[in-house]
Amino acid sequence: MLKKELEEKWYQFYGETDSEVIANLLDDLRTGDFAETVDLLVNKIRGAYALLIVSKRNPGEMMAVKLGSPLVFAYDTANNFYFSSDKQALSGYADKLIYLDDGDILHIKGKNYQIKANWIHISRKIEEMDIDSLEASKGNYKHFMLKEISEQPAIIKRICKGRVNFVDKTMNAEAFHGMHDEHFKKIIFVGCGTSYNAGVLWTYFMEDLAGLESSAFIASEYEYQHIHVDDETLFVFISQSGETADSISVLKLLKSRWAHTFWVVNVVWSTISHLTDYGLFTRAGAEIWVASTKAFTAQVTCVLLLALFLWQKRWLSKAKYDKVLTELERIPAMIDDILDSSEQIQHVAEKIVKYKDFFFLWRHFQVPVARESSLKFKEITYLHSEFYPSGELKHGPLALVDENYPTVLFTPNDLLFDKNISSIQEIKARKWIVVTVSDKEIADADYTIKIWTTIDEMYPFVTAVVWQLLSYYTADLLGREIDKPRNLAKSVTVK
Ligand code: M6R
Repeated sequence: MLKKELEEKWYQFYGETDSEVIANLLDDLRTGDFAETVDLLVNKIRGAYALLIVSKRNPGEMMAVKLGSPLVFAYDTANNFYFSSDKQALSGYADKLIYLDDGDILHIKGKNYQIKANWIHISRKIEEMDIDSLEASKGNYKHFMLKEISEQPAIIKRICKGRVNFVDKTMNAEAFHGMHDEHFKKIIFVGCGTSYNAGVLWTYFMEDLAGLESSAFIASEYEYQHIHVDDETLFVFISQSGETADSISVLKLLKSRWAHTFWVVNVVWSTISHLTDYGLFTRAGAEIWVASTKAFTAQVTCVLLLALFLWQKRWLSKAKYDKVLTELERIPAMIDDILDSSEQIQHVAEKIVKYKDFFFLWRHFQVPVARESSLKFKEITYLHSEFYPSGELKHGPLALVDENYPTVLFTPNDLLFDKNISSIQEIKARKWIVVTVSDKEIADADYTIKIWTTIDEMYPFVTAVVWQLLSYYTADLLGREIDKPRNLAKSVTVK
């Protein structure tokens, strides 16, 4: 609409972006006063935005405005100014930061700034940049991704601290504020990408451990479905950044309908945690680069705790509850073992790097991990991968079979081990290459990455890390830009 109006005034457009419309609109609205022009602009445009505006006529000045989209303003001791949608990108540059509110107009002149809302000067809370430089640096690691993968054992311990007591096997009810309501009969998880994949795994945990009906939805799709809101349903928003536009959009919709909402978010002070009723911070520390690894494990750990918390109040046997906690305490050591024996994973990476297409075929608890592993693999290697529950193989995908299509099966010694072995035999009969991850010797597999034995619910923690590393080493062999994969951004703050 605005574009059409501008075209009628002979403005020319060279692309399809809203930014180009805004730049031309600013020119059209120009009054000679920079601040006044920007004010006219924000009164005219609709929808979510975060804009930084400079004008050739006002050198040394900049204006920032936002509505709906995140915008962090930060500065260092020399009053150099920085902007970002996510504070983590500013770590190492700025010391102080301010989260701008919707409708704020920030005006920079030289080394000074002021913020106005409705033409009145206001001051917003100034926060310290709390991401330390160590966290924001690679240290001795070749890539941030490898560093973040290696942090996972410590993060799981940190998540459990204060929330669970492994000695007397109790959970700290205070840490699960908001979940005291026992009237919830259904849980719906909403997220995107890796966070959605964690949500799918959570549905298994919730149903298996807490006996609660649950489903997971991709935020960008869910928004257009008929969402049934009632008093017995809890909507859980999962997000590393807490700023993902698709998730925020669903959250706002649900809030307008008085839905019960809960967050599982990593970045404190993010939009999702502000808008949601209550929740859990995942305590993963700053996840700086694009491929999500430690955030996934942290999300999964948090919801496992949540499921256990609900579980002890609802239905399952004390023996099972104790067993899950015992194994959860061992998970950091299991991941450490994988990190320490990473040569076995590097060896497999060297063998599979020549292929272009991959199948990920897993069952039950491993299906969401397959989904996440397939995403991780394609995201950083740029190789094609598809995931299927193994049982689906004969319903179509078998048509793709040839010796150039390696298949990955996670075959821990769990409930479905025998079924997985049959799938491997079916695949080997067609001469596919088979890579497995297991605590058992798999005679028919070409390569098996060994992991420790645990219980069914805990294998996903371990298998996910194995495939993070395999994706990493394969991408490294291919010389990919691992920390900044092409076409992708860390926080997807636009719809
Ligand atoms: O910050 P969020 O968890 O809401 O981000 C959601 C996705 O954009 C994100 O998980 C993305 O899929 C990852 N970069 C994948 O590694």
